[in-house]
Amino acid sequence: MTVYLNGRFLPLEDAKISVLDRGFIYGDGVYELIPVYGRKPFRLKQHLARLQRSLDGIRLANPYSDLEWERIIGELIGRMPFDDQGVYFQVTRGVAKRDHAFPTETAPTVFMMSNPLALPSADSVERGVAVVTAKDERWLHCDLKTISLLGNVLARQLAVDGGAVEAVLFRDGHLTEASASNVLIVRDGVIVAPPKDNQILPGITYDAAFEVAREGSLAVEVRPIPREEALHADEMWLSSSTKEILAVTKVDGQPFAGGRPGPVFRKIYALFQASKLKAG
Ligand SMILES: Cc1ncc(COP(=O)(O)O)c(C=O)c1O
Repeated sequence: MTVYLNGRFLPLEDAKISVLDRGFIYGDGVYELIPVYGRKPFRLKQHLARLQRSLDGIRLANPYSDLEWERIIGELIGRMPFDDQGVYFQVTRGVAKRDHAFPTETAPTVFMMSNPLALPSADSVERGVAVVTAKDERWLHCDLKTISLLGNVLARQLAVDGGAVEAVLFRDGHLTEASASNVLIVRDGVIVAPPKDNQILPGITYDAAFEVAREGSLAVEVRPIPREEALHADEMWLSSSTKEILAVTKVDGQPFAGGRPGPVFRKIYALFQASKLKAG
């Protein structure tokens, strides 16, 4: 498999970085994952804008212009033998003597790879998926897509341990998001999502869901969601680049919302699939 590292395309086996890379030592970096449908990156501009936001948030200069990113991403996609891909890339603060403070003359490390896009099975879409609930114990900059993902990793493992696909997180009595997805609910026909503040990642799929909902004349609302409201919602969904939109039908081992995807989910799912085909 070909990957990209610091200006070169090379076989995965030959892509090597120093053990002193600050990504390895401190988790000091940011990343993106862009879904690619039929060799076309989905919402590329929005992903690059979020990358810039994350880089600004950790005070790391963007090593490339958007045009350069587009060229590298396009070239890697072209080198892969599959049409639907998940392009992952990360930028770290580079290799330097171990010291918490930023190094002064260090080039960032840029790594990119693309894997086949593993979308949810038809069965998950039809029957919905199981989640567990957990306390959100992550830091207070969940709006930055940083590679320091230990809190998310531990939450996700709770889901795996509980035979579920995701851990839905609550902080101070409110719904935040899940370990690697945003969470939306439906209440009395209205799609409700928590605000894009410092406690959640501003998901590109979250935005896409809102856009297609508005286009489809579905009612939407953004506001804090108390835990009890989330747990008694008419519907709950997960959204992410690799899950797209999935209905939650089991919470902590118990059937949720009648144990099957609800009517608003069916509408948004159809709208989202249609928008995917139109978009580039
Ligand atoms: C913590 C977290 N929230 C939300 C999302 C969804 O973001 P997106 O729709 O941009 O994939 C992700 C994606 O990986 C995530 O890791």
